[in-house]
Amino acid sequence: MAEVHALSNISFVVERGEFIAIMGPSGSGKSTLMHILGCLDRPTSGSYYLDNSDVTALSNKELSIIRNHRIGFVFQSYNLIFQLNVIENVEVPLIYNRMSLNYDSGMDKCLKAIRAVGLNERLRHRPSELSGGEMQRVAIARALVNDPLIILADEPTGNLDSKTGEEIMGILKGLNDEGRTVIVVTHDEKVASHANRTIKLKDGSILVDSRQ
Ligand SMILES: Nc1ncnc2c1ncn2[C@@H]1O[C@H](COP(=O)(O)OP(=O)(O)O)[C@@H](O)[C@H]1O
Ligand SMILES: [Mg+2]
Repeated sequence: MAEVHALSNISFVVERGEFIAIMGPSGSGKSTLMHILGCLDRPTSGSYYLDNSDVTALSNKELSIIRNHRIGFVFQSYNLIFQLNVIENVEVPLIYNRMSLNYDSGMDKCLKAIRAVGLNERLRHRPSELSGGEMQRVAIARALVNDPLIILADEPTGNLDSKTGEEIMGILKGLNDEGRTVIVVTHDEKVASHANRTIKLKDGSILVDSRQ
């Protein structure tokens, strides 16, 4: 079977507090890059430094702790658990992170994250009772619940109409204004215009890396 090089010769530095859009045609390696940045995947060669430490050398357990504490993920199709209501979905990373099982402080964190995305009125709703934009807000609240410094969003507006997509980008912009690093994959120039920097991929390599 032929080897596929999803990414090759990629080199770039992300400063704390940047807001980056990653663009490129389908199959150009955007999701693969996000998986590496998010410590969901390791590069087969090369290194990835997060906060000055080489995470490519860490064990799966160590990577899962980094993901849980430092990185918030948002996906195109929200990836909510349909049997759980809004609060329970937002609570999932806290349960996964067993240290935070303290009920009161866990609940405070959930409510704070839900407030940050403006969904306080929907606490007991299930995903099937929410609009796409609301589901994406729940996903952002879930990404925020452990107060991560980095938010990674892979086509977060891909399933939304343009007005709702703008609202979601407004929330991500607000999180960036609080000092969080935000990296968003998008096909949409208008979505990318919220970012301060655009990295364009083609066939697994960086074609353009520009600050705007
Ligand atoms: N798990 C995998 N195994 C083999 N090839 C893969 C895998 N994931 C992605 N690829 C390939 O790597 C390339 C980049 O994929 P991906 O990162 O998903 O692109 P994008 O998100 O830009 O559409 C594509 O050619 C894809 O088919
Ligand atoms: Mg993709």
